[in-house]
Amino acid sequence: MRNITLESERLILRPLDISDAGAVFEWASDERVTKYMIYPTHTDISVTREWLSSMDSLDEKRFEFGFVLKETGKLIGSGGIGWNDTEKAWSFGYNLRYDEWGKGLCTEAAMRMIEFVRSEYGAEDFVGEFAADNIASGRVMEKCGLRFSRDAEYSKSDGSVTFRAKIYRMHKDI
Ligand SMILES: CC(C)(COP(=O)(O)OP(=O)(O)OC[C@H]1O[C@@H](n2cnc3c(N)ncnc32)[C@H](O)[C@@H]1OP(=O)(O)O)[C@@H](O)C(=O)NCCC(=O)NCCS
Repeated sequence: MRNITLESERLILRPLDISDAGAVFEWASDERVTKYMIYPTHTDISVTREWLSSMDSLDEKRFEFGFVLKETGKLIGSGGIGWNDTEKAWSFGYNLRYDEWGKGLCTEAAMRMIEFVRSEYGAEDFVGEFAADNIASGRVMEKCGLRFSRDAEYSKSDGSVTFRAKIYRMHKDI
């Protein structure tokens, strides 16, 4: 994978690798974190390792970052941004370990990923989808500048649940 590392005020956004499995498993096995994520809760660290192995074969315009808190050096979450050809926009997503919620860290990380594709690819169009009941995620999108576009729905990758969802968009930074 391309070795891209970004920095924001409180975070380092860096590539993930297999040695991160223990830290990632801590949040990927936490149902409070995974409730609205497309991936099912990791019940075994081998699932986490498998996901981390897939980092080696990401599309050219797809980036996944681990979020490291500068203050402690601890990996506290992850997120990705990539070109969504169906939506003709850059879409992004994120998750943080539960004890780091509510500190503005996800907004900080998402804004940094947006800034990265703007400067690297001249990205102008952004899209995000979140479960209608996932208020915090919707708020992160709003704070990043996205606004309601349409109602939608999505299912977990194992088909276990379908969520009512909202799609938010942003063109340029207006
Ligand atoms: C969604 C998530 C990443 C947000 O991370 P975070 O670092 O806590 O987000 P921020 O602190 O940057 O912003 C959260 C905002 O939502 C608000 N918020 C959180 N819960 C809320 C609630 N129940 N009702 C209203 N607002 C709420 C916060 O007040 C904050 O807004 P503010 O800055 O205007 O006060 C985190 O909750 C998470 O990891 N959730 C599980 C994974 C997930 O659902 N990912 C998104 C999938 S689309």
